[in-house]
Amino acid sequence: MTNRKMITAALPYANGPVHIGHLAGVYIPADVYARFQRRTGADVAFIGGSDEHGIPITIRARKEGVTPQDIVNKYHEIIKNSFADLGISFDEYSRTTSKKHYEVSQDFFKTLYNKNKFQEEVSEQYYDEQAGEFLADRYIVGTCPNCGNDGAYGDQCEKCGSTLSPTELINPKSMLSGNVPILKETKNWYLPLNDYENFLNEWIIEGHKDDWKTNVYGQVKSWLNDGLKPRAMTRDLNWGVPVPLPDAEGKVLYVWFDAPIGYISFTQEWAEKNGKNWKDYWQSEESDLIHFIGKDNIVFHCIIFPAMMKAHGDYKMPKNVPAFEFLNLENDKISTSRNWAVWAHEYLEDFPGQQDVLRYALLSSAPETKDNNFTWKDFQTKNNSELVGIFGNFINRVAVLTHKYYAGKIPQGKMDSEALSEIHKSATEIRSFLDKFEFRNALSAMMNLARFGNQYLQIKEPWKTIKTDETVTANSMYTAAQIAAALAQICEPFMPFSSDKLLNMFNLTKQNWQELETAETYISTGHQINEAALLFSKIEDETIDFQIHKLESTKQNNKKTNPNANPVKDEIQFDDFTKIDLRTATILTAEKVEKADKLLKFTVDTGVDVRTVVSGVAESFSPEECVGKQVMILLNLAPRKIRGIESQGMLLLTTKPDGRLSFVTPDEKVENGVEIG
Ligand code: 2FM
Ligand code: ZN
Repeated sequence: MTNRKMITAALPYANGPVHIGHLAGVYIPADVYARFQRRTGADVAFIGGSDEHGIPITIRARKEGVTPQDIVNKYHEIIKNSFADLGISFDEYSRTTSKKHYEVSQDFFKTLYNKNKFQEEVSEQYYDEQAGEFLADRYIVGTCPNCGNDGAYGDQCEKCGSTLSPTELINPKSMLSGNVPILKETKNWYLPLNDYENFLNEWIIEGHKDDWKTNVYGQVKSWLNDGLKPRAMTRDLNWGVPVPLPDAEGKVLYVWFDAPIGYISFTQEWAEKNGKNWKDYWQSEESDLIHFIGKDNIVFHCIIFPAMMKAHGDYKMPKNVPAFEFLNLENDKISTSRNWAVWAHEYLEDFPGQQDVLRYALLSSAPETKDNNFTWKDFQTKNNSELVGIFGNFINRVAVLTHKYYAGKIPQGKMDSEALSEIHKSATEIRSFLDKFEFRNALSAMMNLARFGNQYLQIKEPWKTIKTDETVTANSMYTAAQIAAALAQICEPFMPFSSDKLLNMFNLTKQNWQELETAETYISTGHQINEAALLFSKIEDETIDFQIHKLESTKQNNKKTNPNANPVKDEIQFDDFTKIDLRTATILTAEKVEKADKLLKFTVDTGVDVRTVVSGVAESFSPEECVGKQVMILLNLAPRKIRGIESQGMLLLTTKPDGRLSFVTPDEKVENGVEIG
C-alpha cells in the first residue's frame, strides 16, 4: 500500500508579510513534517499558497490607495520569498488569484449547486447607496452597543472584544462614503452546516477522541454542542471568485469557501507540472490529508471545509488537523497593527545565513499545547549554548580531529554499542514524536544525540589517548564519526541548511529514515571527508541588543500613540505629497443641494479659476455663513459627480469637539491661489 501524505499549510492572507508567529505555529512544523515524511519514503505533496481574497486585502488596498491586485502581487512575492529563503519546502506555493484556482473553486461550487446542497436565502444587508455596493461587516462602523466605542466594526468591537452583527451597531456608517447605509434585500447561497452535525459528531467526536490534539478536539466539540447553522457561501462583494451562476452578478464566493479549495487547485497545478494524478492525493484511501493551521482556523478546517467536501462527495476527510496555539513576542501578543512582531523577511536580512537558528529556536518554543513565548535572549542562548556549544562543537571536533589524526579518512575502528543504540533511539524517537505531531520532543531527541556525542568525546578524550593508544583512539574516533554522520542525516527535517553543509562536509548522500533507525554504520572506514565548515557562530550581545532596542522603540512609539486616535495611514513618499495641489480660495456663492440634507454647493475663486465644489457641510453651516470665507482647497482632485453635480475639488474641513465641521482657513487673509505645503 502506498504511503501518501497530502500536507497543507494554512494559506496566509497576502495583505502583509509573515512573522515568527506564523512560522512557529504553522510553516516550520509543517515543513519538518513534510521533510521527515519524504525521508521515510512517503509520497508527499506539501502544498501552500497565498490567500488573496477576503476583506483584509480590500481594506489594505483602500488604505494604501491601490487596487487589491496590487496588494496581493506585492505581498505574495514577499511571503513566497521568505518561505523559500527559510527552507519551507513546499512542492507548490501558488495563489488564489490563479486561473486554475478560479476554475476549480467555481467547479466545486457548481457541483454542490447541482446536487442541491445549498439553500438560497434572501436576507437584508447594509448597502451604501452612494458607492452602489453592499457592505462587508468590516466596512460598517458605528457605536458599540456594549461599551459605547464609536469605532466599532460591523463584526466586532475591538475595544471591548465583543462579536457583533452589523445591525447591532448604533449609528452605523459606511466606511466607503461615510453615509448611513440602508438595508437592502439580497440573495445568497447557504450551506446548511446543521445537516452535517451527525456526520461530524461521528467522524470527529467519536472517531478522533484519542488521536487529535485536545485543543482541536475540544473546540470542535464545543461548536457541535452549540449547534450549527446554515452559513452563507457567497458574498456581495467585488473582490473574489465570481459566483458561477447566471443570477449572481456582483457576488463572489465566500473567502472561506474558496481558500481551502486552494489546497486542491494548487495540488492540481503541481500534479499537472509533475505528471501526477491529483486525485491520488485527495480522493484515495491510500492518502492521508493533514492540515497544519493556527488555532483561529480550527472551525474552518474541521467543520466548514469537511462539510463542503462531504457535500461534494468525492473527497476524503483529513486524517488529522494539528492546530497550534499562538506565539507571543517578549511576553506580549504579536500584533501587526502595533508592529509587534519579528518579520521573516527582516530576520533574513539581519541574520544572513542563519535560517536554521530561527528554525531551531522557533521549534523549541513551538506553541504546541498552549501559547508560548519568544524572547531574543532565549534565541541567543539557544544559539550560543545549544547550536554552537553542543551541536557545532561536537561536529567540529570530529571533523578537525579526523583531519589531524587520519588525514580526513575515517579510521578503522569498533563501534561503541551504547553509541549505536543512542543513534537508533534518536531516529526512532523522532519518528514516534513526529507521528504524534510533538515537534519540541522530536527536536530534543535530535539535540540529545548531539549532546551524547559531545559527552562521548569528553569521556574518551581522543586528544589524550592519541599519545598512548592508537586502537582506543581509532575506536572512539570511528564511533564519533558515526554519530556525526547520523546527525547529518537526522537533523535534516529540523535544520535543512546545516544538514546540507554536513552531508557535504562528510561526503554523504541522504539516507532513508528506516535505515537510520537500524543501520550498523553511517560512514565507512576509509571514507574521505572534506574540510570542516562552520555550522553556527556565536551571536554577540550587541546583535541581540539591537533587536531588543528595535522592539523597545516600537513599544515607546506605541505608548506615545493615542489609542483612541484613528491609526496613522500608511507612509507615503515626499513625491506623493508633492502631487497634491492645495491652494487658498474664497467662497463666492453657496446654496443647498436639493434632497440632500448634508450637502452645500459652492462656487469658489481659486485664484486660478472659479469652480463648483460640493461639500457635506450643510449640517454645520447655513449657506449665508459660508459666503466670503477664505478656505483651503484640494485643487487637483479628479472631478466627481455628487447628486448629479460635478464637484471640482475638495474643501479642507476639520471637526470641532461638538462634532460640527469647520473650514480649515489661513490664520490671516491671503491672496487666492496661494500654494499650501
Ligand atoms: O487565517 C488566515 O490567515 C487565512 N488566510 C487562512 C486560510 S487557510 C485555508 F483555508 F486556505
Ligand atoms: Zn465595545
